[in-house]
Amino acid sequence: MDAVDLSQLRGDTPATSHLVHFNNAGAGLMPEPVVAAVHDHLRLETRVGGYEAADAAREAIRDVYRALADLLHTDPSQVAITENATASFQQALSAIPFRGGDRIVTTRSDYVSNQIQYLSLARRFGVEIVRAPDHPDGGVDLAALEGLVHRLRPRLVAMSHIPTNSGLIQDAAAVGRICRARSTWFLLDACQSIGQLDLDPASLGCDFLSATARKFLRGPRGVGLLWISQRVLDRELEPLFPDLRGADWIGADLYQPAPDATRFENWEFAYALVLGLGAAARYAIAVGVERGGGRAARLAASLRTSLSRIQSVRVLDRGPRLCAIVTIAVEGAAPRDIVTFLRDRDVNTSWMDASSAVLDFADKEVGGAVRLSPHYYNTDDEVERVVGHLAEYVG
Ligand SMILES: Cc1ncc(COP(=O)(O)O)c(C=O)c1O
Repeated sequence: MDAVDLSQLRGDTPATSHLVHFNNAGAGLMPEPVVAAVHDHLRLETRVGGYEAADAAREAIRDVYRALADLLHTDPSQVAITENATASFQQALSAIPFRGGDRIVTTRSDYVSNQIQYLSLARRFGVEIVRAPDHPDGGVDLAALEGLVHRLRPRLVAMSHIPTNSGLIQDAAAVGRICRARSTWFLLDACQSIGQLDLDPASLGCDFLSATARKFLRGPRGVGLLWISQRVLDRELEPLFPDLRGADWIGADLYQPAPDATRFENWEFAYALVLGLGAAARYAIAVGVERGGGRAARLAASLRTSLSRIQSVRVLDRGPRLCAIVTIAVEGAAPRDIVTFLRDRDVNTSWMDASSAVLDFADKEVGGAVRLSPHYYNTDDEVERVVGHLAEYVG
């Protein structure tokens, strides 16, 4: 990414003039075309009415599915739009025909809400949750996971591609291969990887891929998506509670699920946000996901190196391949206080306590962490500035 590109990308992102935003794992800064798409539709709604605006924007809305399909190297019929990544994940989980005694194989680093949902399934339906151990180098131990899938024949393998609480990138393609070899349903939470990594869910062997707009994809808050494999559609899996968009009520005691991914959608949409999601997908494609994600990961790697030189700062990220999320613990300091200190200096980061990652933080023997997550629009100077502030804090 050369200087011209970078100044254009920063120009599209006005807050970069006064803010160091290292909280893209929370919510990325929206570029101007995304903001314009949201504003324009809201203005249209105020002028002509909400339903009428949706009618007027029908073609643009259709194009959102095409943009998402282009981003994911797939067909628009396999993309559902939802409220957020959690809603996508719930729709997918609810489509798996669990019976008592079935197993879910997952990892020690899966997202907190997903872990709670597995436990809820265990409580209500007697589903057994089996967490594959981590490899000593970090990330799930693939051989152990393969052994579990082989021996236990789980109904589902579910995994967070990039956890919320570390820079780890799990080897989704390897897990996908294991699942495909055993015809096991595979649900991948790509909430943190979308916009950072070039995702091709079919090649990754996924059956479902859940994601949100607002993080590295730089879309608005309050909208997400779910990719669905052709296998899922062919085998007629459907969410537990389809609504009148997901299905047609065709007789007193009969409904017919939609033939495509629409099956997983609800009728009501915040269409301004949907259009913002489409603009974010087009923007990511124009920047180049691999190029942008590569730059973000390089900035994060340099941040890790510099932070690890500060005495009393511990960099927590482990794994053979790391992304643009950096997590640290600072001896004797509460993560929340560090985030406040940085925010007072116009640097955005975020903090997590033990409940965000009960297993991973216990393994790392920390009670929480500060998360710093740059994006491609950040700079080496900003990395240096943040490192300087942290050195000042511990000093
Ligand atoms: C790995 C991961 N999965 C899922 C989610 C949930 O996303 P959402 O808040 O859009 O439901 C998050 C949010 O931080 C996340 O980091």
